[in-house]
Amino acid sequence: MIGMSKDSYKVMVVVLSVALAILVSALVSGVLFISSNKSPGRQEDVGSTVTIGGPFVLRDHRGQSFTEQDLKGGYSLIYFGYSFCPDVCPTSLAVIAQALSKLEEENPKAATQVTPIFITLDPERDGPEEIASYISHFHPRMVGLTGSVKQVRLAAEAYRVFFQKTTSEESSDYLIDHSSIIYLMGPDGQFIRHFVHATSPDVIAEELLALLKS
Ligand code: NI
Repeated sequence: MIGMSKDSYKVMVVVLSVALAILVSALVSGVLFISSNKSPGRQEDVGSTVTIGGPFVLRDHRGQSFTEQDLKGGYSLIYFGYSFCPDVCPTSLAVIAQALSKLEEENPKAATQVTPIFITLDPERDGPEEIASYISHFHPRMVGLTGSVKQVRLAAEAYRVFFQKTTSEESSDYLIDHSSIIYLMGPDGQFIRHFVHATSPDVIAEELLALLKS
C-alpha cells in the first residue's frame, strides 16, 4: 500500500469488510427467497422444500375411478402398502381403524368426515377384488385403491413413498420394501401432517378430534 497512510488503509479495510458482508447477506437471502418460493403448501413436519400429495389417477376397490379430486370435502388418512405384507401393513391399517373407532365413540358425526384410504404398492397382485377383501378386515368405510403399475408408481412418487420389490429365500413370492407412513390430508386435498406407523391410535384420534372441533 504505497502512498497510503495507515488511517486510510484502515478505512479501506472497513469499507471492504462491510461490502463483503452486504454481498453475503444478499446471496443468503436470495437463496432463502428461492427455496421458500418452492414450497407453497403446508409441510410443517417434513422439511420445508418437500411437497406431499398431488395428482393421481387410480381405481377403488369397487372398480370406480378415484383421483386426488375425490379427497376433497373431507379428511383422509392415507396409507401405502400391499395386501401380501407380512406384518407392518396390517399393523398400520389396524392403527388407522382403531383411531377411527375411537373417534366414532367420542364424536360419531365428526368420524364420518374422515376416510381411511389404503393404496396398494403391488398392483400386479392387488386388483380391486383382492383389495376389497383385504380392507374388509380393517374398517367398513376404508377405501382401497389400485391401478396400473405406472399409475401406482406416480401416486407413490406424489406422496414421496419409497418402495422396491425384494425376493425372499423361503418363498418364490416377492416382498416389497416400502416406507410406512400415515398421511393426514385436509378437506382442500392438501397435506396436513404425517404419522409414523407406530403412532398410538389415541394420538391420531386426538389430532382428528381437535381438527374437527375447530
Ligand atoms: Ni407393508
